[in-house]
Amino acid sequence: MQDIALYIHWPFCARICPYCDFNVYKNKPDTTDALVDAILADMKYWRDLSGPRRLVSIHFGGGTPSLLTAGHLGRIIEQAGQYWSRDASMEIGLEANPKDINTQSLKNWRAAGIERLSVGVQSFDNSALKFLGRDHDGQAAQNALEMATAIMPRVSADLIYGWAGQNLDELREDLQIAMASGAAHISAYQLTIEPGTAFGRAGARGISKAVNSEHSADLYELAMGQLSRADYEQYEVSNFAKTSAARSRHNLVYWRGGDYIGVGPGAHGRLTVNGMRTASIAALKPKDYIDSVKSQGHGLAERETLSSQAWAEEYVLMGLRITGGINLSRYREISGQKLAPETIAEFEKLGLLQTSEDRLSATPKGRMVLDSLCNQLLQDGNC
Ligand SMILES: C[S@@+](CC[C@H](N)C(=O)[O-])C[C@H]1O[C@@H](n2cnc3c(N)ncnc32)[C@H](O)[C@@H]1O
Ligand code: SF4
Repeated sequence: MQDIALYIHWPFCARICPYCDFNVYKNKPDTTDALVDAILADMKYWRDLSGPRRLVSIHFGGGTPSLLTAGHLGRIIEQAGQYWSRDASMEIGLEANPKDINTQSLKNWRAAGIERLSVGVQSFDNSALKFLGRDHDGQAAQNALEMATAIMPRVSADLIYGWAGQNLDELREDLQIAMASGAAHISAYQLTIEPGTAFGRAGARGISKAVNSEHSADLYELAMGQLSRADYEQYEVSNFAKTSAARSRHNLVYWRGGDYIGVGPGAHGRLTVNGMRTASIAALKPKDYIDSVKSQGHGLAERETLSSQAWAEEYVLMGLRITGGINLSRYREISGQKLAPETIAEFEKLGLLQTSEDRLSATPKGRMVLDSLCNQLLQDGNC
């Protein structure tokens, strides 16, 4: 039976952070029940399309899915278990804002089936948190993380680095506190400035909210060094885990080019049936999503079949993010051609790529320039 992962997008947040480019809206508690019902109905549509599959993960992302009650989460988890066959080591993850975390909420989520929590710490530094527009302080983030590691089997801390003015010591301190909390997984994201966000608009007015690329590379190198010395293995550009069991199985499905269903407003999905891979996106606005599910039985805004070229390109872009890399024979299978052998050889000589039998991966040096490396590879592969 083929594997599948399930992503549930909860689009509401207590307030909108000035850097965030996700499909998010100010919380409307009176919409909660209607949206949960729509998500449950949309899942039925996807079950009909996917057929029976082994469910390897359920991931509640957002937005702020920690605004949902354990009752809502439990209903969705139970329904998913009825539609697909639960893998013995199925991951059930929730992204949680520190403000929503307390001993009781953790116990309730646990009872509903959540076993992995990604805590949106961002930083433990009060001035950084203020700069990032967060609604919690550093102590609250630390308390939330410590409570989470005491109750949840698996915990990850999300950190953001590279905000304007951040020095190396400040990042070192954030990483140190995150590691000391006992979280066996840390995601360290470089602050990206997206057009359409408050930070993007500030940038357009000449006010930079992020450090320059040179300093950002220094911060990234510091994070990689500090985490690796503390035995957090880097398995993806921004992700570090103490053990392979601590890794995000759900995100690994994305990076390895697996199939996933996306339900909830703006959720993306990829489904391969009879050798054809489709990409889907649900209606962005919660009301449109709910209305679409009511009138058509699904929340889809768009669904297209990927050309073999687009599919292969995505396989490379996602796969080279992980240290495990991609399978060259899999690339050939998808695209019908070899991936730029001369360019690979050249990048190997430069110490940016490495091959081991059928596997191609980026070296630590290559990961520092991954975007341009991938672009070149795909361009020369005529992909
Ligand atoms: C979509 S958010 C959801 C988690 C939760 N709502 C929160 O904010 O804590 C997941 C993570 O993405 C990261 N993130 C969001 N926007 C980002 C940006 N512009 N640059 C870097 N990281 C970002 C943050 O670390 C955040 O914890
Ligand atoms: S970073 Fe998290 S809390 Fe902030 S707007 Fe984005 S999803 Fe919502």
